[in-house]
Amino acid sequence: MTDVIDLRSDTVTQPTPEMRRAIADAEVGDAVIDVDPTVQQLEEYTADLLGMPAAVFMPSGSMTNQVAIRVHCDRGSEFLCESEAHIYHYEQAAFAQLSGLVAHTIHTENGVMTREHLEGNVRPENEHMVRTRLLCVENTHNRWGGRIQPQDSVEDICQWASENGLMRHLDGARLWNAAAATGISEKDLVAPFDSVSVCYSKGLGAPVGSALVGSEDFLYEARRARKLFGGGMRQAGIIAAGALHAVQHHRDRLPEDHEHAQLLADACEASPSLSIRGGRVDTNIIICEVDPAWGTAAAMVAKCEEQGVLSLSVGPQAIRFVTHLDVNRTQIERAAEIIHTLTESPIPKSA
Ligand SMILES: Cc1ncc(COP(=O)(O)O)c(C=O)c1O
Repeated sequence: MTDVIDLRSDTVTQPTPEMRRAIADAEVGDAVIDVDPTVQQLEEYTADLLGMPAAVFMPSGSMTNQVAIRVHCDRGSEFLCESEAHIYHYEQAAFAQLSGLVAHTIHTENGVMTREHLEGNVRPENEHMVRTRLLCVENTHNRWGGRIQPQDSVEDICQWASENGLMRHLDGARLWNAAAATGISEKDLVAPFDSVSVCYSKGLGAPVGSALVGSEDFLYEARRARKLFGGGMRQAGIIAAGALHAVQHHRDRLPEDHEHAQLLADACEASPSLSIRGGRVDTNIIICEVDPAWGTAAAMVAKCEEQGVLSLSVGPQAIRFVTHLDVNRTQIERAAEIIHTLTESPIPKSA
């Protein structure tokens, strides 16, 4: 199946030969008893890159997010997030199941929260109400098609959060894509936040791993929560080595993924049966709404698969394509052609 073009996610990548060598050669130790030197190196490198005091390595972005929320909020309180946020949609409401917290979702027109959306959403202090403790932002925003949060609105809503006594957490699973696309450094993008979650296993192409970044005091509690959630990992340098290689060598190539996404987006835009969610593609994720007159998203996923293009349905009429380091320009051009041809004419109703 060498000519399958897998655009389901940027998590499907294989480690490169250089990454495999870094993994094989990693110096390791028991990170639960004391220190794994490669994990330590990755944590220091990441904290430095983000201009924050420290970082803690964890197995997944879901864990870094959920640990952050747990540490920022006391049991029985709530956090604010955009209504399509990964934290709310795709993490099994772990904040409720594991930490006794409530999500207060904010509806937006395009994934970008502004002060106007947020005003009036901090609950008054009285014995009837949960307490509002935290604002969560997602950059880039997955379910809004890799949308970049405009930095002036991020600064403004974080200022609003601080005026209202809220902590600020960034789900920066794809922070690297936002930095590559805007030219704003990761340091500047995260400066308004108290904590940040980043993933090495998405656009950067590492097999596993995420980090939670923040102050020493915050991370002391985060380490405890990581252990509580079963995320204490022993010779984790084996996976941290892949993550370190990814963050040191794969950030510079992200614009290529963004160019490829734009090419696919143009093909989708040209089709009468597809429209791009939010009207634009900023980074490496394309979410298209499929015209019901053509068929469903599931039918389109199946038709694409027959032609060797893998995608995901992310709603009854929504299909997602993601570019990454294991697809090249020729494959993207082929995928664009296939999508265009497939969507030009409706499929029979029985399909
Ligand atoms: C925006 C965002 N945050 C968090 C995650 C969770 O990461 P993981 O799959 O490592 O738990 C994802 C995964 O796709 C994501 O897209």
